[in-house]
Amino acid sequence: MHLEKIGVLGCGLMGAGIAQTAARAGFPTIVREIDRELLDKGIDRIFAFIDKGIARGKTTVIERRKVSNHLAGAIEMEDLTDCDIIIEAIPENLELKREMFRALDNMVGVDTIFASNTSSLKIADIACASKRKDKFIGTHFFNPVPLMKLVEVVRTEDTSDETFDAVMDFILAIDKVGVACVDTTGFVVNRLLTPYLLDAIRAFEAGIASVEDIDNAVTLGLGYPMGPLTLIDFIGLDTVHHIAGIMTGEFRLSQYESPRLLRLMVEKGWYGKKSKIGFYDYSTEQPTPNDSELKKIIQE
Ligand code: CAA
Repeated sequence: MHLEKIGVLGCGLMGAGIAQTAARAGFPTIVREIDRELLDKGIDRIFAFIDKGIARGKTTVIERRKVSNHLAGAIEMEDLTDCDIIIEAIPENLELKREMFRALDNMVGVDTIFASNTSSLKIADIACASKRKDKFIGTHFFNPVPLMKLVEVVRTEDTSDETFDAVMDFILAIDKVGVACVDTTGFVVNRLLTPYLLDAIRAFEAGIASVEDIDNAVTLGLGYPMGPLTLIDFIGLDTVHHIAGIMTGEFRLSQYESPRLLRLMVEKGWYGKKSKIGFYDYSTEQPTPNDSELKKIIQE
């Protein structure tokens, strides 16, 4: 089976990245959002990302041209009907995802593959809403999608070899590397990443080191590209908290439980970079560590 036309559901951070990646590899790609405003915002995000890359000499106008030639936006689900694969990247809400695939099931051809970019739900729990369980798979991309090479490719017990092979070929064709995982909460990366990120918060809560020193210890001592507290700010504190909740529910292990500080920060609407405040303050051009405000929260 050869995948030619790509559909992406959702043009938020992940959906936009997936659509950009497929389009720049030359696949006709259609990305769908629920309204014109969100769609325009998502498409603008794609071209702003490329333009920044061009200005920094990391990509060229050729990528821009390829994306604009191969990418289209849509509001109607019906516009996805002739896609060979539809990759869902909508919010992490099981019922919403099920509803979307239930609706699509009756619209698209029998051969269309359904994929979910969920980072924390089980693929089988989403797939049960569709009648094509053999054509249902997980494709978990990483942020920022256009730059990160990995895709976790998640098979359920029902995913056929044909579906798996077609998706692995597609991933190779968009210049990514697929790793095969079984369908378990958090797959490989979040299973390892979540306790590590939460432990970094616990280290700060315990007064082991400052925000900046925890990050520097990891970047300089372990060679990671970014420290854990910066990474939490980038992923979004609300997202990390949400994933921790799902993983705690599944595994019942304290290592996955959200630390008190994370819970309080989320309650305050401190979501990290997207809300301009988290472990760092992003209201100025150069992010500044937020230690003194965080200590006040710890003492509350
Ligand atoms: N999330 C969102 N944006 C990110 C990001 C991340 N994790 N990491 C980097 N970026 C953004 C940067 O902010 C920058 O954007 P601006 O120009 O707007 O500042 C852009 O990507 C380029 O980043 P760099 O300037 O650092 O460029 P680089 O070429 O030196 O390195 C990189 C790029 C390879 C992506 C490097 O930054 C990196 O490795 N970052 C860590 C990425 C990471 O750990 N991703 C996994 C996140 S976890 C996840 O996605 C799974 C999940 O389910 C929660």
